[in-house]
Amino acid sequence: KAVCIINGPNLNLLGTREPDIYGNVTLEGIINSLQQSYPEYTIAHFQSNSEGELVNKIQELGNEYEFGIINAAAYTHTSVAIRDAISAVSCNFIEVHLSNVFAREEFRKESLLSDVCQGVITGFGAQSYFMAMQFIRSQSGG
Ligand code: DQA
Repeated sequence: KAVCIINGPNLNLLGTREPDIYGNVTLEGIINSLQQSYPEYTIAHFQSNSEGELVNKIQELGNEYEFGIINAAAYTHTSVAIRDAISAVSCNFIEVHLSNVFAREEFRKESLLSDVCQGVITGFGAQSYFMAMQFIRSQSGG
């Protein structure tokens, strides 16, 4: 069983970045505890600050994995390219956000990705990733 987790720009700064909004846990900490909580899964993780690299990775992994978790961060609200990459591959992506994007600035309320993802989990901090894994595990063969 395997899952790919894609994280977008500035999420490499988790832990020190606006901790009142994004929490104190580092991205490495999140990935490590996901791996510990779901030992039966091989978790492939990729983070980039660059839109093209994210597109390349989605193309590369997107037909290999049945399920993926994506936090495209700021590109969620702007990237037709990431949307099109998600649409182009067979992987079922779950969109996650640490913060509640609906409780923040207006521009964060729009996602170009939500309707090409299986569903959206937003506002539960690092737990958003765990909730996505819980869904994936609940799917037979997930
Ligand atoms: C985010 C929300 C985005 O609006 C923001 O640009 C991020 C992180 C989140 O996880 O809460 O960088 O995706």
